[in-house]
Amino acid sequence: MPIVVVVGGQWGDEGKGRIVDLLARKAKVVARYSAGNNAGHTIVNERGEFKLNLVPAGIFYPEKTCVIGNGVAVDPGVLLGEIEGLQAKGIDTSKLVLSDRAQLVMPWHIALDKLDEASRGATAIGTTGKGIGPCFVDKVARRGIRVADLLRPEDLIPRMKNSLDYANRVITGVYGGEPIDFDSCYQAYHDYGLRLSPYIADVQGVVFDAHRRGEYVLLEGAQGSLLDLDHGTYPFVTSSVPSSSSGGAAIGVGIGPTDIQRVVGVFKSYCTRVGNGPFPTELFDDVAATLRDHGKEFGRGEYGTTTGRPRRIGWLDAVAARYSVRFNGLSALALTRLDVLDNMPTIKICTGYELDGKIISSFPSRESTLERIKPIYEELPGWMTPTTEVRTFDDLPPQARAFIKRVEELLECPVDLISVGPSREQAVIVNPIF
Ligand code: IMP
Repeated sequence: MPIVVVVGGQWGDEGKGRIVDLLARKAKVVARYSAGNNAGHTIVNERGEFKLNLVPAGIFYPEKTCVIGNGVAVDPGVLLGEIEGLQAKGIDTSKLVLSDRAQLVMPWHIALDKLDEASRGATAIGTTGKGIGPCFVDKVARRGIRVADLLRPEDLIPRMKNSLDYANRVITGVYGGEPIDFDSCYQAYHDYGLRLSPYIADVQGVVFDAHRRGEYVLLEGAQGSLLDLDHGTYPFVTSSVPSSSSGGAAIGVGIGPTDIQRVVGVFKSYCTRVGNGPFPTELFDDVAATLRDHGKEFGRGEYGTTTGRPRRIGWLDAVAARYSVRFNGLSALALTRLDVLDNMPTIKICTGYELDGKIISSFPSRESTLERIKPIYEELPGWMTPTTEVRTFDDLPPQARAFIKRVEELLECPVDLISVGPSREQAVIVNPIF
């Protein structure tokens, strides 16, 4: 059985949780491999609506092992809150496994994230403020604190002192802020360690052994590929190491790249972005408002799961998407929120960029270039009919089928899955992914 990776193809919030929830049906292991609680999934199923930031979306299937990999930055208080919230709604969390090698988000990471953003003024990244950037900075600077350290005060105390001492020098010396107190942080993290200890294990063994037994393993990316530290719209990217694109999946759970058989890229039928940074097809007109507020009355509008911020909206950008297909090595696309376009008389797709009077079809590396380019659009007729009850490709309106076919051509990748609503069953499976 395969190891399948699911990644977001755009700037995050593509509906990965929804697709993972669907693909997880046959998986034995579902693992998160990168980022932290800056990511957010909304999942709607027969138990209700759930917003998850750290726990993998496979948790709703009691027989599956759900893994938080070594590549994830874990805020233990947030994780415990999620576990307890799930338990309160009767969800079994006993098969959750947390990597002993994962890095911990500490209170000073959150403080530094906010201070750094404030100091950047007009050039702020627009981070989620969850401390993820500073946590990965400490990881790379080899000053980080790992989940395994929670279990041994002899390790935890000196590591926390070392990390906090450095952070306090930056907080007070660079930003003029208030130093953070060690004792209260230590008490909180010691307590987190005791409460999380039943979940902590060597994740590499869990994933590797499942694969060797021939079980189907699903690796769940966070955020979107265009927020990737290397390939995204730098510096307006997230800082996850390993990255959330497919290249980070093997590192983030401790397997080799040759163990991965398929990579599914999730794309919205249009585009959104939260936070600052280039967004070539961004819309500022009534179309943006209509798309953003579609389904708002049911909590489905385009507002961030983690921060509640209104998302920036634009048409599907096929230039950026094709770039993402290529560096992720995608084998299939999952196209989400097709139903949001149901009332659009015309639908646009950006097929190229105009730069200084010339047409380019590649995705520029420079942020300043991306800010200058003008999108070239192709207009397709809308279908002006609801698709939320459609379950087969052939039952989609002809204009919707034509839109999907055009997406496949432009992105050079087949669309295997289409979602037409938030519930598990509101999906069109064109080709079963496994
Ligand atoms: P950070 O990850 O909090 O440092 O934020 C860096 C950038 O990534 C900001 O533009 C955030 O809005 C964006 N970002 C981080 N996580 C997500 C996500 O889950 N969905 C969409 N954007 C995200």
